[in-house]
Amino acid sequence: MNILFVSAEAYPYIKTGGLGDVVGSLPEALSQPPFNHSVKILLPAYRQIKIQFDDLDLVAELGNPFGFGAMRLLQGKRGNKGACCLLLECDVLFDRDGGPYIDTAGRDHPDNAERFAALCWTGAVITQYGGLIGWQPDLVHAHDWQAGLLPAYLKAWGMRYPPVVFTIHNLQFTGAFEHAQYSRTCLPESLYHMEGLEYFGRYSMLKAGIVYSDWLTTVSPTYAREIQTPAYGCGLEGLLSNSRHKLDGILNGVDYSVWNPESDTYLAQNYDVSTASEGKTANKRALQKLLGLDPVADQPLFGVVSRLSEQKGLDLLVSCVEHLMASDAQLCLLGSGDPLLEKTFTLLAQQYPGRIATTIGYEEALSHQLQAGCDFLFVPSRFEPCGLTQLYALRYGTIPLVRRTGGLADTVSDADDTTSADQTSPSDFQAQTGIVFGDASPAALSAAIKRAITLYDDPQRMIEVRRAAMRQDFSWKTAAEDYVRLYSMLVSPDMRPER
Ligand code: ADP
Ligand code: GLC
Repeated sequence: MNILFVSAEAYPYIKTGGLGDVVGSLPEALSQPPFNHSVKILLPAYRQIKIQFDDLDLVAELGNPFGFGAMRLLQGKRGNKGACCLLLECDVLFDRDGGPYIDTAGRDHPDNAERFAALCWTGAVITQYGGLIGWQPDLVHAHDWQAGLLPAYLKAWGMRYPPVVFTIHNLQFTGAFEHAQYSRTCLPESLYHMEGLEYFGRYSMLKAGIVYSDWLTTVSPTYAREIQTPAYGCGLEGLLSNSRHKLDGILNGVDYSVWNPESDTYLAQNYDVSTASEGKTANKRALQKLLGLDPVADQPLFGVVSRLSEQKGLDLLVSCVEHLMASDAQLCLLGSGDPLLEKTFTLLAQQYPGRIATTIGYEEALSHQLQAGCDFLFVPSRFEPCGLTQLYALRYGTIPLVRRTGGLADTVSDADDTTSADQTSPSDFQAQTGIVFGDASPAALSAAIKRAITLYDDPQRMIEVRRAAMRQDFSWKTAAEDYVRLYSMLVSPDMRPER
């Protein structure tokens, strides 16, 4: 099957979070045995991406459909990666400083509406006219709001087209823009209505993806249920609940060729489940040295690797810092985002030198070192569609301390949960692998911290939980099988989507 992925991010080319990890690794899993599909990933040719390719072939001139500059399609392959990349080149949109969505001052690029409309339009052109590049997609898999207009273009053009799957990685990012900008998308006004892409007086690229795609997935079964409720639905819960016949929750996988303590080249010492005690001790020592923390071996080291946003619940952690410090624990945080949280954690590091280390920024190497060197990883999210850092923590033998929501609830089971220990099911998920708490409140997080410290003070139990965590298998195979089953159903002639 020819499968076109459309996304604003894909590791290792460009990544700001889990979307990049997923679009970096799922196409690889799909293009390798036993699946062997032909997968191409359409990405914007951001400046940072173009310089990573030695050779880029021009595969199509797309003209100047939006009137703001010529667009061209380039194709490149990096190393022995199975999936190849199609890059939408339009320098006026993508050749600039800053990240994929924000400028160097941290503000949204003012033309994001046009930038990602251009990406969607190009994805729709390839879908409709695969002959243009000599490769006709049998199915399109679009990701998050940045790719949400793709099926709206196909719908507007009114011809027959292959099935479109749309994955919601985060419902909170609705890609909503003022109606005044709508005309610049080159989409007809006839789609701008309540059952279409209109969203509280603006238009939403995410809603377009939900309405006009043939199938929806989100990245964990629990989040798929949560987004049908007002508490998590961002105003789209009614639409999602009415769309539940075409909505699945498929848990993300982990690329264990990138996230594996046995082979991770960023680590001070590699380890596996049988050498975890020594391995983690060595990595903890190295991390403490690197970050200027006191070189103590017998105090629990808690870590955070995260975007700093309301979603991630790190304001709850701020309220618990005194408790952590009174418990002889250490904390290291790597993150960026909300200026107030950045400032707060920076001040806390100054207030507790040698005990709290804060790194503001985005650092791939440190994110791995932190996973290896910490004893516990905080993920106290208010909501979490899937979450990948807790999955990496499990493999690195770092006990995740998570709130029971979304993918966190689906992947971490509580070390003190006697009901799951009593289960006779052989399912690995029954293993007790972390600390799970319920309320998004400082009191609940504080109680969870207390349980983590009790666990740390019981070395034998700590080893058991760590071993169970490291033995969890969240490789892409299972998720890729689920996607392949879905794709096959959608392309089978008797399952032609009703449109
Ligand atoms: P989200 O996509 O909501 O940010 P995930 O847990 O799915 O959350 O994925 C986050 C990804 O981004 C992980 O690969 C994590 O290691 C990485 N990451 C987050 N913040 C940083 C940072 N400051 N530096 C390096 N990597 C980071
Ligand atoms: C989003 C979600 C995160 C998920 C990631 C990849 O950024 O916030 O929970 O793991 O997408 O699907």
